[in-house]
Amino acid sequence: MHFELSEEHLAVQQAARDFARTELLPGVIERDEHQKFPAEQVRMMGELGFMGMMVDPKYGGGGMDTISYVLAMEEISKIDASASVCMSVNNSLVCWGLETFGSEEQKQKYLTQLATGQKIGAFCLSEPEAGSDATSQRTTAIDMGDHYLLNGTKNWITNGNSASYYLVIAQTNVELGHRGINAFIVEKAWDGVTVGKKEDKLGIRGSDTHSIMFQDVKVPKENRIGEEGFGFKFAMKTLSGGRIGIAAQALGIASGAYELSLQYSKERKAFGTEIKNHQAIAFKLADMATEIEAARLLCLKAAWMKDQHLNYDRASAMAKLFASEVAMKTAVEAVQVHGGYGFVKEYHVERLMRDAKITQIYEGTSEVQRVVISRDVLK
Ligand code: CAA
Repeated sequence: MHFELSEEHLAVQQAARDFARTELLPGVIERDEHQKFPAEQVRMMGELGFMGMMVDPKYGGGGMDTISYVLAMEEISKIDASASVCMSVNNSLVCWGLETFGSEEQKQKYLTQLATGQKIGAFCLSEPEAGSDATSQRTTAIDMGDHYLLNGTKNWITNGNSASYYLVIAQTNVELGHRGINAFIVEKAWDGVTVGKKEDKLGIRGSDTHSIMFQDVKVPKENRIGEEGFGFKFAMKTLSGGRIGIAAQALGIASGAYELSLQYSKERKAFGTEIKNHQAIAFKLADMATEIEAARLLCLKAAWMKDQHLNYDRASAMAKLFASEVAMKTAVEAVQVHGGYGFVKEYHVERLMRDAKITQIYEGTSEVQRVVISRDVLK
């Protein structure tokens, strides 16, 4: 066992750090305030290879491992969690799902564009009444012979408007329960696809979250992913890897808040000395550093297990559960360290605090992670 990153890993980490500081930091406060999607920055992320990091180069991807992805996600999330959720959904849900379970034709047609970032993808599972309870899909895809007829509404879809392609989970045969669910590639440009209202959110306000409506959308048979009835397992397997990405996002929010607090504690004076010299602040920094390190190790272990082709369902749930709790706690403490300045936008930590909350909710709430972990522990 060794804990050192390779030269390649360090280079990816540095590239992501440089990009985040030079391209994402300017304007991040304004994008948050005006709910502006970082379209130009996401385009650049595609050019730099951050949108399809783990995809085989033969499909236009970076051919990197999951550890590299975690490192890049942490650095980008330190500065802009709205950009990083777009990156995470495209990498771990859309590209990974297509590369692992898609047909060769689907990969040639869709993955090649998604992995290079020329197009963005979205993952449409959640519904008004199917969030944590993902088997209760109301969206239907009726087999019409040469195509499926898709009807329903999906909610809280990340990249909802900016995506060109959606991976849509729908019920094909209600009587079969989760075994009657399928996953489809649906093009935004098709007749019957409507992008609903943009959500006005507490955090990750730069990210593009919409409801998506499907009304009598004709989905060709060849756009079903995997065998008939594979859709629920497709979603579960894909989300398991996605949770590593969101864990890394949470880690980045936490480490971003910590780094700002560390810097501030060396500059701000109170009671005749820099506040770092007060134990009340120093102990907060010690706790933040310790918990972030533990979260980082869980993220990297889950990534390593995925790279080793081991079962990582429990590890990814643990990483997401723990890192998201650390993100929330660290960001709240970072605002406290900054005092009154922490409560205003200019100092960034209030945004990180708002952004942290969603990491305990999407790609499975903390409660869902506890379900996954406890079932594994108790089996
Ligand atoms: N891999 C393979 N198969 C899996 C699996 C996995 N990781 N997890 C479950 N399955 C299979 C089970 O084996 C079972 O199949 P069989 O009956 O053939 O054995 C089937 O799936 C059903 O599993 P469960 O009985 O465990 O299902 P459940 O109804 O009890 O649900 C759950 C379990 C963990 C709560 C699950 O519903 C879940 O993960 N819910 C949360 C969904 C979620 O994360 N949503 C996020 C939306 S996407 C998003 O947020 C993206 C974004 O925009 C950022």
